[in-house]
Amino acid sequence: MDPELEFELGVPLPGSVLPQDRWTRTALEGPRRPFDWDRVFGRSGPRVVELGCGTGRYLVGSSVARPGHDHLGIDVVERLVREASGRGDRRGLANLRLVTGDAVTWLFEWLTEDSVDEIHVYHPQPYYNPAEKGLRILTPEFLDRMWKVLRRDGLFVLQTDHPPYWRYLLQAASKYFEPEVDSGPWPDAPEGRTRREIISRRKGMPIRRMAARRRPTPLPMEIPRIDFDTRRPR
Ligand SMILES: C[S@@+](CC[C@H](N)C(=O)[O-])C[C@H]1O[C@@H](n2cnc3c(N)ncnc32)[C@H](O)[C@@H]1O
Repeated sequence: MDPELEFELGVPLPGSVLPQDRWTRTALEGPRRPFDWDRVFGRSGPRVVELGCGTGRYLVGSSVARPGHDHLGIDVVERLVREASGRGDRRGLANLRLVTGDAVTWLFEWLTEDSVDEIHVYHPQPYYNPAEKGLRILTPEFLDRMWKVLRRDGLFVLQTDHPPYWRYLLQAASKYFEPEVDSGPWPDAPEGRTRREIISRRKGMPIRRMAARRRPTPLPMEIPRIDFDTRRPR
């Protein structure tokens, strides 16, 4: 029998649906502060975190493609996390956990220093309404904390389709990371690594991304507060 595929926006999701007796439980429950990777996954592999993981498309794909890596996805919207964990469960993934929560709380309180190998952030919300700008997660303090939580040689992957936000983030992240910048499709997911990327590509929006290695020491520079043109790009 052909493996059962699932689709999102008409694009196949990575991996295939297994018979129900092989499903797993990827929703994270129970006490978790500080987050104990080895206990949760029952082993000690390289650790990948996605903040604002939405429907989990990237993390599901990475968990399928990299079974030796352990993955943790965090999003504040419970409905999205349920959708993401359903996808992980049906693929029988044991190297993925998904949790409803605030990325800022997780980064500052639940993820310990020097404990993570990769942090991914795809399409953080720019928040167009100036009254909501305090909700933007990628503040100078957040970047500083990411630098601490990442291990030596850790990787920060960031992508956005909002040009003013991109210009700010590139400048700000350079204090802590050495950005390699790209704008083409991902070789592993040409139609988009995430739901938002698929939509943005179809609309022809300018997608920018960086894969940035952690610097051994932050550069001696001040990062300006987030203050970019918040208008929605046309
Ligand atoms: C524009 S969507 C992008 C979702 C996904 N990364 C993608 O590319 O399809 C931004 C996501 O960030 C989540 N988010 C916003 N603020 C957050 C926070 N403080 N903590 C966790 N997730 C947050 C939203 O719920 C939403 O799923």
